[in-house]
Amino acid sequence: MAKNKSEQEKIIKKTTPTLEERGVTRQTLLHRAQRADNDEFFTRYEDVEKELDMYPKSVWKNKVVFCNCDDAVGNNERTTSAFALYFLKKFKELGIKKLICTHYGGKVDLFNQGPKGYIFTKNGFSEIGTKEYPKNYTGSFDDPLSLKILREDTDIVCTNPPFSRAIDYWRMIIESGKKFLIISNITNPITLAFIPYFKEGKAWAGYNRVDWYLTSKRELTRAAGTWYTNIPIKNRQKYNHLKIIPLKDIPEKYKRYDDSKTLIVDNCYIPSDYKKPFAVSARSILNGLLEKGYALIDDKVYHPCINGKKCFARVLVRKTSS
Ligand SMILES: C[S@@+](CC[C@H](N)C(=O)[O-])C[C@H]1O[C@@H](n2cnc3c(N)ncnc32)[C@H](O)[C@@H]1O
Repeated sequence: MAKNKSEQEKIIKKTTPTLEERGVTRQTLLHRAQRADNDEFFTRYEDVEKELDMYPKSVWKNKVVFCNCDDAVGNNERTTSAFALYFLKKFKELGIKKLICTHYGGKVDLFNQGPKGYIFTKNGFSEIGTKEYPKNYTGSFDDPLSLKILREDTDIVCTNPPFSRAIDYWRMIIESGKKFLIISNITNPITLAFIPYFKEGKAWAGYNRVDWYLTSKRELTRAAGTWYTNIPIKNRQKYNHLKIIPLKDIPEKYKRYDDSKTLIVDNCYIPSDYKKPFAVSARSILNGLLEKGYALIDDKVYHPCINGKKCFARVLVRKTSS
């Protein structure tokens, strides 16, 4: 039966809720889609090698390494986790005691009892998923079995966890008290959920940034990641990027005062003689500022405004050593 225009509109409205009716904006949908997509970015072998080769062999010697977001046995080298490949290639050289890799099956795999994890020792490998493991093991990093492996077997965790679960992942790994070397977003030092870890010295940047990843189709894609760890960093090259000089010598365009008269410095300029708190970007923290006699003053993000206009988020630091 033909309907007039207003009746049609009513029906369309009833059966097709607007974004507003669903309680989401276009922006949040795009953001969610982007995050889901980012979760399937894979780390390139060269990025794993470049970072992990920086640490002394003693870090790995006789240690149990747990890659808890990694498929160790893909169909071929291209679909196998670069973390697993690195540790398997260097197993003897590094003197690793055991490598455990678990791979998230996701909800669709919930009732599949197949193995989702592998344990490698110098004598060979075995699959997780045999009788001693719970039927509904998902391979998720926060599955009770993965947590048990973390607590009871692991010395060092090393992986690139899903970006969308970064907050939970960091909480879990830091609470475990284990050593870790992981990839995460470069903005973590100025993100509320992570700032306390930097403030309390529970995490710091590794050596390198990671700007390129592989999609599930093995195509190159960009994302702003970097390494984070709680393993000591020797001779951090990036200290050279910090320009720690007297305030008067910092070029005018890199020092400003916001509406609350707080000093903001940019381009990794750091005043060596300023006693009050001042605002810096994530880059200064990633370059090792907190190891140079400066400390975060609180657990919050700092949102400066200049002439009423909001600027990029930063954090407040203060010089602690004389
Ligand atoms: C950013 S990718 C990195 C993959 C791999 N670690 C690498 O570096 O190439 C994150 C991986 O975590 C997986 N993942 C998603 N949710 C997970 C969870 N709850 N537990 C463990 N892994 C998860 C994703 O399927 C994806 O394979």
